[in-house]
Amino acid sequence: MAAPGGTGPIGPFPEGVTSEDEQVDYDKLRRRVLWTMPYGLYVVGSRAGERRNLMTLNFATQVSFDPKLVGIGVEKTALTHELIAEGGSFVLNTVARDDRAIVRKFTKPVEQGPDGTLNGFAVHDGPTGAPVLDQAVAWIDCAVRNPVDCGGHTFFIGEVVGCGFQLAEDTEVLRMEDTRMSYGG
Ligand SMILES: Cc1cc2nc3c(=O)[nH]c(=O)nc-3n(C[C@H](O)[C@H](O)[C@H](O)COP(=O)(O)O)c2cc1C
Repeated sequence: MAAPGGTGPIGPFPEGVTSEDEQVDYDKLRRRVLWTMPYGLYVVGSRAGERRNLMTLNFATQVSFDPKLVGIGVEKTALTHELIAEGGSFVLNTVARDDRAIVRKFTKPVEQGPDGTLNGFAVHDGPTGAPVLDQAVAWIDCAVRNPVDCGGHTFFIGEVVGCGFQLAEDTEVLRMEDTRMSYGG
């Protein structure tokens, strides 16, 4: 995973922020402001051939009604990036609010068990073939339509080609604020 907020002060800087100290301070302030943005927390399923992965992600949002488009921001160095670029799809899994320990399980490439589990978690293939977490509250399977290059990340915009609930529809889903973790900034 990349260093939170990137490495070293990143421009552009507002007028008057010129010395290195000022730039460092502004960089920290901007990070704190960006960290106040509210986010959901998801497990993203990806697949290329027989290689499957699950990854914790908060950079996700619906971006259009018609067509139904959902975008996710994925680090270019992540295995998930390689699998989505190659496989052309991803599954966004929502997880139950009381299932928050799960996010720590998917911060590096998973181990695929001989029984088809990923880090010991049961999955099944969504319509595009990317993995759906069996214990997800709901899943959204997306076919990539527009990968947008964003520097360190690619924002993969996908069209919703399948979705479903696996737990009661009113199950509360996990959000970033339910954990002590942060990402972005
Ligand atoms: C709370 C949290 C949120 C994260 N959000 C994202 C995200 O939105 N996008 C992303 O590329 N990585 C995110 N990560 C990092 C990935 O989970 C993962 O560490 C890294 O990208 C490697 O994934 P890989 O298994 O695909 O190689 C997050 C990590 C944590 C702990």
